[in-house]
Amino acid sequence: MEKRLQVITGGTSGMGLATAKALSVYGPVLIGGRSEKRLASAMAELKEAGVEVYGKPCDVSDKASLKAFVEYAVSIAPIGNVINAAGVDYANMPKEPIIRINMLGTHYVLEAFLPYLDDSYVVNFSSITGNFYPGPSKEEKELWDQTQTLSEEEFVARQLELTAKPNDPRMAALGDSYMTYAMSKRYVQYYTQANALRVAMKNGSRIISIAPGSFYTPMLAGGNDEAMQASIKRGTVYQRFGTSEEMADLICHLVAPGHGYLTGVDIIHDGGKTALAFAKQMM
Ligand SMILES: NC(=O)c1ccc[n+]([C@@H]2O[C@H](COP(=O)([O-])OP(=O)(O)OC[C@H]3O[C@@H](n4cnc5c(N)ncnc54)[C@H](OP(=O)(O)O)[C@@H]3O)[C@@H](O)[C@H]2O)c1
Repeated sequence: MEKRLQVITGGTSGMGLATAKALSVYGPVLIGGRSEKRLASAMAELKEAGVEVYGKPCDVSDKASLKAFVEYAVSIAPIGNVINAAGVDYANMPKEPIIRINMLGTHYVLEAFLPYLDDSYVVNFSSITGNFYPGPSKEEKELWDQTQTLSEEEFVARQLELTAKPNDPRMAALGDSYMTYAMSKRYVQYYTQANALRVAMKNGSRIISIAPGSFYTPMLAGGNDEAMQASIKRGTVYQRFGTSEEMADLICHLVAPGHGYLTGVDIIHDGGKTALAFAKQMM
């Protein structure tokens, strides 16, 4: 098999970093993230593991930064798969950066790499919280359908106005940023579906999103105290978090040859959390 470049935005930490290591079986790996310190440390870890790794700082919410990242990518090798693991959580995060990074960032990454896709996989990271979001409303869907035509500022301003109010008291207790996060991940699922046809035109390329439940990464560890972590674990069939390596392993299998019919879907990987939430278990 020709060795093509495996691109991982958000490849400097957590599930992105583990995925970078796993996908190195398919070719050289390029990782990006905003923090140069995290980038250097992730590159050292991957090199130590024998990975042919390249790195460049990038901010997926900044088109100019992504342009430079893509130029660097295509200078290394033909593009293989593009994994967009860059994302921010809701803990201590205002609504606007969640919209810019999780929503517009997903759009910008696809736009930047689309011309270079060739029998490739694009994998976005959604979240099972997207399935709990009470939307999109009619207005929200209209806005999401205009992602390509609206200016960045117009998109952000209109989305800030539209984020739904929670209809579930447990969600309401988690606050506005949580709702914005859930909305941003519902958008990732929708955006992935909405681009299946366009991506397929690049020599049969595929686009999917993965919805993690609760995976033990710096994001999850940083945003939840011990009591919350214990409660999250109880919400899974296996009473534990997933590991970044388990996520990386799934992605490595999904992008392997032989899955050329799989596109436009959101794949839930959550240790049975959704099953417990939506179906009474038969004992
Ligand atoms: N962990 C979970 O249980 C869980 C559950 C559901 C969904 N997810 C989603 O899964 C993805 C990976 O999460 P993780 O848990 O592995 O988190 P993580 O360990 O915090 O890693 C996030 C990565 O994204 C990068 N990043 C953040 N903002 C960026 C930006 N604007 N431009 C470029 N890179 C950026 C971070 O680096 P810098 O900060 O240096 O930029 C880091 O490399 C995220 O999209 C997250 O929302 C995670």
